[in-house]
Amino acid sequence: MARNITSLVSPMAMILLFFLSFLVLTTSASSVESSFLQCFLKETLPGPAGAAPPQLLFTSNSTSYQSILQSSSRNFRFIASKTNQKPSVIVTATLQSHISASVACARKYGINLRTRSGGHDYEAMSYVSDSTEPLVVVDLAAMRSVKVNVASRRAWVQAGATLGELYYAVFKKSGGKLGFPAGICPTVGVGGHFGGGGLGTLSRKYGTAADNVVDATVVDVDGRVLDRAAMGEDMFWAIRGGGAASFGVVVAYKVRLVEVPPLVVAFNVNRNLKQNATKLVTRWQEVAPNFDKNLFMRIVAQTNGGSDGGNVGIQAVFNSLFLGNRSQLFTVMAKSFPELGLRAEDCTEMNWLESVLFFNGMLDQGVESLLKRTSVPGVSFKAKSDYVTEPIGEQGWDKIWRFLMENKEEPLTMILEPYGGILSEISETATPFPHRKGNLYNIQYYLWWMDQAGDAAVTRKHLEWMRKMYGFMAPFVSSNPRAAYYNYKDIDLGRNGAVASYAEARAWGDKYFKNNFRRLAAVKGRVDPHNFFRNEQSVPPLL
Ligand SMILES: Cc1cc2nc3c(=O)[nH]c(=O)nc-3n(C[C@H](O)[C@H](O)[C@H](O)COP(=O)(O)OP(=O)(O)OC[C@H]3O[C@@H](n4cnc5c(N)ncnc54)[C@H](O)[C@@H]3O)c2cc1C
Ligand SMILES: *[C@@H]1O[C@H](CO)[C@@H](O)[C@H](O)[C@H]1NC(C)=O
Ligand SMILES: *[C@@H]1O[C@H](CO)[C@@H](O)[C@H](O)[C@H]1NC(C)=O
Ligand SMILES: *[C@@H]1O[C@H](CO)[C@@H](O)[C@H](O)[C@H]1NC(C)=O
Repeated sequence: MARNITSLVSPMAMILLFFLSFLVLTTSASSVESSFLQCFLKETLPGPAGAAPPQLLFTSNSTSYQSILQSSSRNFRFIASKTNQKPSVIVTATLQSHISASVACARKYGINLRTRSGGHDYEAMSYVSDSTEPLVVVDLAAMRSVKVNVASRRAWVQAGATLGELYYAVFKKSGGKLGFPAGICPTVGVGGHFGGGGLGTLSRKYGTAADNVVDATVVDVDGRVLDRAAMGEDMFWAIRGGGAASFGVVVAYKVRLVEVPPLVVAFNVNRNLKQNATKLVTRWQEVAPNFDKNLFMRIVAQTNGGSDGGNVGIQAVFNSLFLGNRSQLFTVMAKSFPELGLRAEDCTEMNWLESVLFFNGMLDQGVESLLKRTSVPGVSFKAKSDYVTEPIGEQGWDKIWRFLMENKEEPLTMILEPYGGILSEISETATPFPHRKGNLYNIQYYLWWMDQAGDAAVTRKHLEWMRKMYGFMAPFVSSNPRAAYYNYKDIDLGRNGAVASYAEARAWGDKYFKNNFRRLAAVKGRVDPHNFFRNEQSVPPLL
């Protein structure tokens, strides 16, 4: 192997080499940082001619480090925090080989590696950490291709694509005939979202995003690139809802596309307490999980901030999508939920892609806006989730509304997301996502605030209130375990210690995964026994 390296290096790679040596020589980079950089360089050169991009490594001293770190982050408090661990290096990978090299080098030097696709992790586990271990982030934002095969109704989507990019490509390539069942927010990344389940307006008809994954390409702990056949059914099961971050780096998913009708109907019906909101929400719990599969109706409830003539009240929005035409919708509503009083003028017919805009309040912005990757600087949030298996009575809702109204300085949004449909037909063990039959809906509690300064005291106040609210809700929701949705990650449920143990991790693992947690830990024990792929809530190896 005593070849002259320069003869193999392409001109682009020479530029990279120059850039790297500049970095390493002119900064007093920490030893971890320079070890990783040199290792990465060795692993990736010589690449295919011209393949090495001009710049894909960012250290804390790079001028664009801060903007890269912040680029897809949705939760500013983790960027602003002065106490968490920020990455020493961010690798903005463009090729599979960059991922393999990052894994090999992080492993070699005992560095904690995190993968970031869309950056929407609720607890920012894809780009910062709680530990003092050095951290490297592989950012997949540039690996975002979507290859649609209309005839076979399949698509390969790279992990760094956003849901908006996926929906747009699938819909446009199929001439408006095909869609995909996944989350509502278009800037969510495919990598994290599919790895944790993935729920949205089509889930009652077609299941979670993970239910519709048929193959995947994953870089494992040895840097090998595996497809479904090579990784085996156990690992393929685990990465479809069990948190792919615990098992490897997903490069791409192959998915089954679904048919969408040429026109759908979207509508919002708003009701306040004087307009029977309490009765309607109570009734909704029994009807919405049993609706025709073509009807998705979630409730977004919050205080009105005193807009009701100075009185603080509650506003419940019945935020809905029907996969069919207006006359079919009215037939369904007359049979199942006449009390809502839906009127023709509440309804708008549109195509399915436009309905994605509708659900994000972007209908006037045009479908091309689904391709935008905008971030909102300064917005911080905390969220939690619950599952409801027994309807909450009207008196219960009265108490809940009173709690929200008494705490109007903490303007909580409660989103009630209906289950039922095919979600109840799929077995609890089919994928790691266990929230199937018997669940009426989940509640997402979402509190956001603006804090450009990232004031730690402000953050603490909001987090403490959220814990109080969660305690208040306990009598109304599932227990033993008090179930939670993994994609709505909540660090309050528990975290791994310095040495992650299965027994300890059950505190949070049983809530997210119920009886599937043990199998996840067993798979982890086989594919990553030394726990290389780790974060605060990664599955610990069970050996
Ligand atoms: C505004 C907003 C709206 C949302 N709406 C919905 C919704 O409608 N429905 C729903 O179900 N969820 C929703 N979510 C939650 C969302 O599904 C999760 O936050 C999801 O994990 C985000 O994926 P990401 O790739 O954007 O995040 P990231 O922060 O990039 O990653 C999340 C986790 O997955 C890991 N990961 C990311 N990419 C990979 C990969 N390629 N291989 C292995 N591991 C990887 C990360 O390390 C991290 O642990 C929403 C979140 C936000 C912030
Ligand atoms: C960044 O540069 C400063 C001086 O400009 C230096 O003190 C510091 O060690 C450098 N940090 C890293 C991680 O290279
Ligand atoms: C509220 O419900 C009552 C019957 O319980 C009905 O008469 C009334 O019209 C409803 N109000 C609204 C605004 O729907
Ligand atoms: C609505 O759809 C049904 C079933 O496809 C069809 O029979 C009916 O004609 C449609 N109605 C209108 C007004 O388009």
